[in-house]
Order: sequence, then structure tokens, then C-alpha cells
Amino acid sequence: MKRLLLGLVALAGCKPDALPKLGHGAKAVEMTAPLRFHEREGFTALAPPAHIPSSDPDIDQVRVWLKLGDGPITTQAVGDRSVLVFPEGTRADRVEQAGRGEGRFVADIRGTTLTADGPRFHVFRPSAPKPDAPLFGAQWPAANPDAHAAATDYLAERIAKSEPVSSWQPARAQAEVRSFREKNTCLPCHDPARPENTRAGEHGLVNRGTDGSGFFTPYTLFEDEVPLEQYGVHDRSMTDPLVDIVCSGTVVATDGWDRTCPQGAAPRARWRWDRAWAQAPTRAKQRCTQAEWLFERMDAKARKQVTHFFDNCANPHQD
Ligand code: HEC
Repeated sequence: MKRLLLGLVALAGCKPDALPKLGHGAKAVEMTAPLRFHEREGFTALAPPAHIPSSDPDIDQVRVWLKLGDGPITTQAVGDRSVLVFPEGTRADRVEQAGRGEGRFVADIRGTTLTADGPRFHVFRPSAPKPDAPLFGAQWPAANPDAHAAATDYLAERIAKSEPVSSWQPARAQAEVRSFREKNTCLPCHDPARPENTRAGEHGLVNRGTDGSGFFTPYTLFEDEVPLEQYGVHDRSMTDPLVDIVCSGTVVATDGWDRTCPQGAAPRARWRWDRAWAQAPTRAKQRCTQAEWLFERMDAKARKQVTHFFDNCANPHQD
């Protein structure tokens, strides 16, 4: 009896849900109250000129959140281009939600933290498809293939054991886990300083380019025209009155359009400042405020590169 009691005390002393060690510098992690996490932690939800492709025709289910590290945002020369580089301590998360209204929940978070030892990737998934369910996750050094494999194995195992996959027929469950494993390969897409596609598929599936930190979204905050993506189920840019869609410089009608341009050109989304200031000044102001926030944190060279953006934040469009 005494031994049993001692055993119980020892158990109580160690965390009952202690996270497993994954090895190779990979770590198991958790997130509680995921719907409010990024706001609570001081991240900013980015407002790019074009919508991010969404699983829902009426709401943006994907948001990119950014929290800056302490140092300045700098630039790096890559051939004849110059790309932005974010300071150590910066963290960016792509948060994908599913469902609507009260049942809306976080379905996937993938992100990068820039550290002195290089970037670390992380992925979180829900322990159940419910708004208040905690997320399980893993983080790993981006450049270490063993750590990546250990993190992927752990996540795949947890996904298979969690609702809804755990109650699916084996064939469907296995297909889901296989598809997760394929999507957990981050580096091919997030290759730093990747140029924008001028033709569909030129540098990969994604038409946008990346900055020097391998991010797609932040640089677009300073652009008035960005590549339109062709892969998502829905792209709300096509019905956004503040955005024109152009193929090789010519505006196209998007009613029933299949998101391809003649001769395989990559379509582009052009933000219309004139309409934004006239019809949706809150969105126009939001773009200017976000650009100012990043501009404040830039070194002189980076500022010079983006300063033209602010022409549209002043007259003649604004009162
Ligand atoms: C098929 C290409 C692709 C793969 C694979 C991919 N991403 Fe992304 N990621 C994107 C795109 C495109 C965005 C921009 C948001 C969007 O369009 O959904 C994005 C957004 C992000 C962001 C927010 C900053 C930014 O780039 O806009 C981070 C951080 C990120 N992904 C990390 C990851 C991690 C970590 C993995 C692997 C677990 C991963 N991504 C896998 C294409 C990819």
C-alpha cells in the first residue's frame, strides 16, 4: 500500500501529459485556445492586396499572422533583385480555419520562427474538429531532414488517432495521413528569394514569390499588383470590387473564368487604390497602417525599396 501511495505521488509530480521527446532537435508542442492565440500573443493579421485562396466562397479561411523580432528588417541582393529579410525572433503563422459561425475551428497552423540557429518550422493540428479543442503540434529545425522526419512521424500518428480521422474507414484514414505527410514538406515551396511566376508553374505551383526569409505574404503588403493563384478551391479576389484581374496587362472578366490566361501567362491581381479610397476607406487605411508598421522597423535600404508604396496613402485619393 505504502509503495502504491509513493507511486501515485511520484506520478502526480511528473506532468501526466508530458510531451514525448522527438529527437534530432524536433519538439512536440501544444496550443490551447487556438482561436485567440495570435491576437493574445501580439501577432498582426496581414491584409495583402489579393485574397489568399480559401476553401469557402464567402469567407477568407486562411490568414497569415506576423510578429516581428527585435532587429531591423533588412534587404538582401539576389541577382538583379533585392528582397526583404526579417530579423531573428520573427514568427509567421499561416492559420487555416474550417466551418462557419459558432462551429468554426482552427484546422491547421503552419509557421516559421527565425532563430539564431536558422529557421524552425512548426505545424499544429486540432485534437478534435471543435472550436475549443487544443492543438497538438511539432516544431523542428527547417534544415535538418532527420528532425523533419521525426516531427512528421509524430504528427501523422497523432492525426491518425484524433477525431475525425480515427473514426474513418481505414482506406480513407490512410489516404488522409499520406496526404498530410506530402504537405508537410515545406522547403520546396518556401525557398527564399523565389521569383514570381510570370508563366503558370514556372518556379512551382505558387505564383507569388518569396522574400529572403522564404515568406510569400509580407512582401505583397507593399505591392499594388501581385500574381493571382490558380490552385485554391475559391479565390475571393475574383469577386472583390477593389481588385482587377489582369492577363498580360489586360483586365479580364472573371464571371465563369477558369483562372488561366492566354499562352500560359500567370494571371495577376491589381489593387485599385481609387476604388479602395472611394468605396472601402477602412481597407485602404488598413493597408497603409500595416505598411507603416513594417516601414518603421526597416533599415534605410529596405525603406528606400518600399517608399513608393506610400504615394497612394496620401492625396489625391485620401481626404
Ligand atoms: C505547396 C506549397 C507550400 C507548402 C508545401 C507549404 N507552404 Fe507555407 N505557404 C504557402 C503559401 C502559398 C503561403 C501564403 C498563404 C497562402 O496562400 O495560403 C504560405 C504561408 C506560410 C507561412 C506564412 C508566411 C508566408 O509565407 O506567407 C508560413 C510561416 C508557412 N507557410 C510555413 C510553412 C511550413 C512550416 C510548411 C511545412 C509544414 C509549409 N509552409 C508548407 C505555400 C506552401
